[in-house]
Amino acid sequence: MVCMAYAFKILCLFLLFIAVASRPTVKPKVFNVRRHGSKPDGKTDNANAFTSIWSRACGRRSGSSKIYVPKGTFYLGGVEFVGPCKNPIEIVIDGTLLAPANPRDIKQDTWINFRYINDLSISGSGLLDGQGQQSWPLNDCHKNPNCPKLAMTMGFAFVNNSNIKDITSLNSKMGHFNFFSVHHFNITGVTITAPADSPNTDGIKMGSCSNIHISKTNIGTGDDCIAILSGTTNLDISNVKCGPGHGISVGSLGKNKDEKNVKDLTVRDIVFNGTSDGIRIKTWESSASKILVSNFVYENIQMIDVGNPINIDQKYCPHPPCEHEKKGESHVQIQDLKLKNIYGTSKNKVAVNLQCSKSFPCKNVELIDINLKHNGIKGGPSTAVCENVDGSVSGKMVPQHCLN
Ligand SMILES: *[C@@H]1O[C@H](CO)[C@@H](O)[C@H](O)[C@H]1NC(C)=O
Ligand SMILES: *[C@@H]1O[C@H](CO)[C@@H](O)[C@H](O)[C@H]1NC(C)=O
Ligand SMILES: *[C@@H]1O[C@H](CO)[C@@H](O)[C@H](O)[C@H]1NC(C)=O
Repeated sequence: MVCMAYAFKILCLFLLFIAVASRPTVKPKVFNVRRHGSKPDGKTDNANAFTSIWSRACGRRSGSSKIYVPKGTFYLGGVEFVGPCKNPIEIVIDGTLLAPANPRDIKQDTWINFRYINDLSISGSGLLDGQGQQSWPLNDCHKNPNCPKLAMTMGFAFVNNSNIKDITSLNSKMGHFNFFSVHHFNITGVTITAPADSPNTDGIKMGSCSNIHISKTNIGTGDDCIAILSGTTNLDISNVKCGPGHGISVGSLGKNKDEKNVKDLTVRDIVFNGTSDGIRIKTWESSASKILVSNFVYENIQMIDVGNPINIDQKYCPHPPCEHEKKGESHVQIQDLKLKNIYGTSKNKVAVNLQCSKSFPCKNVELIDINLKHNGIKGGPSTAVCENVDGSVSGKMVPQHCLN
């Protein structure tokens, strides 16, 4: 008996040893871009070097890969990183990636583009410098349909189970980060910066995405801090600072055919500082698609000198006259909206604007503890505007509500 127990113990130890020894190494293979032909001189185009490093890292059969960009300035023309990769892949950027100053030198819609990838992680203390200064004066898209195409800084399309952490994006030519058909993605600790007057420099823009988390992120830019477009669901935004910028915007929606519902949005613990708008939903008057915008919660939100703190605009027409204008009412149905503990100061007298569609009035809008004071040039307390909206109120209410 004793003997058998002893033998068993030895066997167990032996099996344990085998298990430990044959465990795949947890460390990824590191590709330092400096050791693979790239030059941090701020002039040499590293696009080819980067894409060839990507191909090798992404194509490795066993084990994960890590691409490392050390300190230094790496000039980079347009690059595309395309999967699928066989294993998880990590990119750590501690240096600066420098975009061409001349927008024509990026021959694609997005300066740095990721497509068809699972398990991608991007992090580091580094900088994406979009060098947008030369491009902004060329942006006349609001009046010229043939305006020059300017590139977004970084794009993700058909990417799942991935994340970005800590990096900084500066002075994009158009938007900073663009997401299309991305599912299960975390954005955290990111800093996004462009001047208040730089046109169309959205911070984070997404369409047809689900299960995205944005947290601990600082966005100051010339357009929307976050823009949420057709087909986005299960989006969670928390601990974000926004300003300057145009706020956290849903839409514009409804203009085009085949748009999809936008639902299940949570926006918590946000500071809007000096933005033109805070909480914003915009839908075109007369829409080609009939969609639902539903189940939104906005909670614990501070407004500091915000132009329009709460702004639902179902007559959106940024550059009138709009051809849609004549065709009728917005067909976007907004419902199940909760706004709780929204406080601070409004630059405009109208601090709460709920302008809903006549054909599809807003349903079940809940206002709880709203305290928005007017601090504009002209005196008088803040006010609220309601059109075609049905809902309920509770708790503190400044401005006085206009529901029912
Ligand atoms: C990504 O996720 C979406 C939604 O969950 C799924 O339809 C798609 O097949 C996934 N793509 C990949 C490459 O796994
Ligand atoms: C995103 O963050 C959540 C919560 O911290 C975590 O559970 C999840 O695994 C993360 N997903 C990715 C793809 O990083
Ligand atoms: C708001 O922005 C102003 C001007 O940039 C700045 O001075 C102030 O510290 C900011 N306030 C907060 C609470 O971030």
